[in-house]
Amino acid sequence: MRIYHLSAECYPVAKVGGLADVVGALPKYQNQAGLNAAVVLPYYNRKFVREHQFDVVFQASTLVGKRRYEFEILKERDNVLGFELYLVSIPGLLDREEVYSYPDEREQFIAYQLAFLDWINWSQQSPDIIHCHDHHAGLVPFLLQHSALYKRISKTPVVFTIHNGQYHGAFGWDKVGLLPEIDMMAAGLLEWNGGINSLAAAVKCCAKYTTVSPSYLQELTIQSNGLEYLFHLEGWKGTGIINGIDTDVWNPEADTMIAATYSLKKPAGKAKNKKALCERFNLDPNKPLVSFIGRLVLEKGADLIADALAQSINELAGQVNFLVLGTGDVYIQDQLKAVAERYPENCQVYIGYDEELSHLIYAGSDFLLMPSRVEPCGLNQLYALRYGTVPIVRSTGGLKDTVIDFGDEGGYGIRFNQASVADISYSIGRALSLYQNTVQLQLLRKRMMALDFSWNQSTGQYIQLYQSLTPKL
Ligand code: ADP
Ligand code: GLC
Repeated sequence: MRIYHLSAECYPVAKVGGLADVVGALPKYQNQAGLNAAVVLPYYNRKFVREHQFDVVFQASTLVGKRRYEFEILKERDNVLGFELYLVSIPGLLDREEVYSYPDEREQFIAYQLAFLDWINWSQQSPDIIHCHDHHAGLVPFLLQHSALYKRISKTPVVFTIHNGQYHGAFGWDKVGLLPEIDMMAAGLLEWNGGINSLAAAVKCCAKYTTVSPSYLQELTIQSNGLEYLFHLEGWKGTGIINGIDTDVWNPEADTMIAATYSLKKPAGKAKNKKALCERFNLDPNKPLVSFIGRLVLEKGADLIADALAQSINELAGQVNFLVLGTGDVYIQDQLKAVAERYPENCQVYIGYDEELSHLIYAGSDFLLMPSRVEPCGLNQLYALRYGTVPIVRSTGGLKDTVIDFGDEGGYGIRFNQASVADISYSIGRALSLYQNTVQLQLLRKRMMALDFSWNQSTGQYIQLYQSLTPKL
């Protein structure tokens, strides 16, 4: 069964967040299960792209509005990722270093989607499934079905996965000219709240959509930036499938990015990682270390962290240490830097993106804080669990589906209800008590490291979904 995954991110080629981790792993596991899955990514000017060999497999041009763009489809030669990787190269439009945030982002992703469709169509391919991820690939199901250009492949089932329903890829009708010739009778399918909305169009036109956790599927009907009613209407098409983790990349027993490897059976290395991490950041390794890794944005509750840390340091008389790795909104960065300046012995902040450091933090911390307001799945807590680091999470979305509070039967993490300074500080107090109970902490570590959040189970759920849409396999 031939599947094309379309996404703006794919680890290790281009990563901003968890979308990359998922698209860099799921196709590999699908192929191990006997499918023939490939990834099609926009060409960015990135290290991975510069360091690997690519062959041109297709050349053509596509029209975006009034501008015609020459494009090439490049194929990575050696399948180093465990799946075929294709890049849509459009010089002058896509060959930039960053993934997002350019003023012509709309044109960029429309061109990427059109080039993909042109390639599949003109090279006479007939994939069994096209699997689109988030709004950057959200116009594909509509264009496939309602532009005469793609009539030959118009029946191809499209699965659409929502990793983040807060971002919609919306734009005004004045920009409809960027799209190719479409059936105007069907134009209403593009619309939500008076404009063109790529996410809404995808949900309306796809064969099935998935969310990255079952709880998030429900939450979209309550909190999705104006699409709540759409998710009520189309809910019958939705399934929640929890993300897995790539255990080739995230494995404390073989991780080359950490100071010492360790496992459930030989856990001693965890302490060495803590020592290395604390030495690097000048923190006392005898105190519990609570860390945060992530985008410093409201969605992640990052604006609450600075106050919560300051409050905890005061209330707990400096008995807990904190480390933050992240980048994002400048005012949140400034808040955090101010706390680190005020309490340097208890709090260190690293502003930036550092994949290697993130591995050391998962391995060397005692607790990982995730006070998210919205968390469709969350991978950080899954990495933390695998590295024996207790997740402290707000009970929402995928966090709710993957973390059981240690006060409940079989539990191993710390959960709280409100995205508030009070709830975070209270939970940090619970973390300190847990840390002081060494026997219980060891027991919980064993419990969480024995959990299986690998892709094996979720891969099967995606395959079942594909099978329901196509007779082959
Ligand atoms: P999201 O995709 O919403 O940002 P996820 O929890 O799904 O959240 O995934 C975040 C991914 O990005 C994880 O792999 C995490 O380790 C990584 N990450 C986030 N911020 C940073 C950072 N500043 N440095 C290194 N890795 C980071
Ligand atoms: C999004 C979500 C995150 C999820 C990731 C991968 O970025 O914010 O919760 O884990 O996608 O699906």
